[in-house]
Amino acid sequence: MSLEAENPVFLREVRIGFAGRVIQEEMTFAIENGEFIAVLGPNGAGKTTLLKLLLGLVRPEAGEVWVFGRKPRRGNPAIGYAPQFRTLDTNFGVRARDLVGFGLDGHRFGPGFPSRKRRELIDRVIEEVGAAGYAEAPVGELSGGERQKLSLAQVLISNPGLVLLDEPLANLDMAAAREIIGLVGRLRVSRRVAVMLVTHDINPLLPHIDRVLYLANGRSAIGAPQSVITRETLSSLYNHPVDVVEAMGKKFVLGVET
Ligand SMILES: Nc1ncnc2c1ncn2[C@@H]1O[C@H](COP(=O)(O)OP(=O)(O)OP(=O)(O)O)[C@@H](O)[C@H]1O
Ligand SMILES: [Mg+2]
Repeated sequence: MSLEAENPVFLREVRIGFAGRVIQEEMTFAIENGEFIAVLGPNGAGKTTLLKLLLGLVRPEAGEVWVFGRKPRRGNPAIGYAPQFRTLDTNFGVRARDLVGFGLDGHRFGPGFPSRKRRELIDRVIEEVGAAGYAEAPVGELSGGERQKLSLAQVLISNPGLVLLDEPLANLDMAAAREIIGLVGRLRVSRRVAVMLVTHDINPLLPHIDRVLYLANGRSAIGAPQSVITRETLSSLYNHPVDVVEAMGKKFVLGVET
């Protein structure tokens, strides 16, 4: 079997751009089954656009994109996606368990799927993310961390092989962020699902991830954190002197916005 066919994600010499403006070029990498990847980079680097490329919402200007050996397509049931910006206001009065159930709509469990089975799937995934205590509560009453767990449940309920989480840790305090990261770390093992998680802070993810995909200045680097989050790699990526300082087990990138 070819590499393309086996991997959740495979990109070869991909260029992304809009109206002649290049956002990313020469993106070549593969993501393995069950891998946990942190996607980093400054505002506007193309992180969200990369996820949209995999979802078939943005087309590459050049190169090849494969998702589980197929061209990206909208509504791909193999992918679970939690967007960066959610219109939570519209879900304010929705019960937590109904929000999770939305993850089944548009899939093979959609209309016509027995309601008892639907209920069982919802109960099971809510249990899995530890949200049983507020399953009946309106979403508007819940904390940011609780909503993120529900969002994760919504994404996982259709049993995808690849999960794309766009800044799920934004607006969470460190304790809540660590809880979500630990949960994602456990679930990707128990469900053997590949995860791409976009974030601006690598530190809480360091014990859990396999590799970092760093986007900056139209280019990207992928590898273990200790080889990507370095003065050499980041200075070359940004084309600008960058320093990486380690203190108290954390990495601090100096000289650029991350
Ligand atoms: N449909 C589009 N048409 C034109 N330009 C776009 C489109 N979508 C994204 N862009 C541009 O592409 C660049 C990358 O945007 P993207 O949202 O991927 O950045 P990001 O890395 O996710 O940033 P952030 O950290 O702020 O979320 C931005 O300059 C954005 O304005
Ligand atoms: Mg973004």
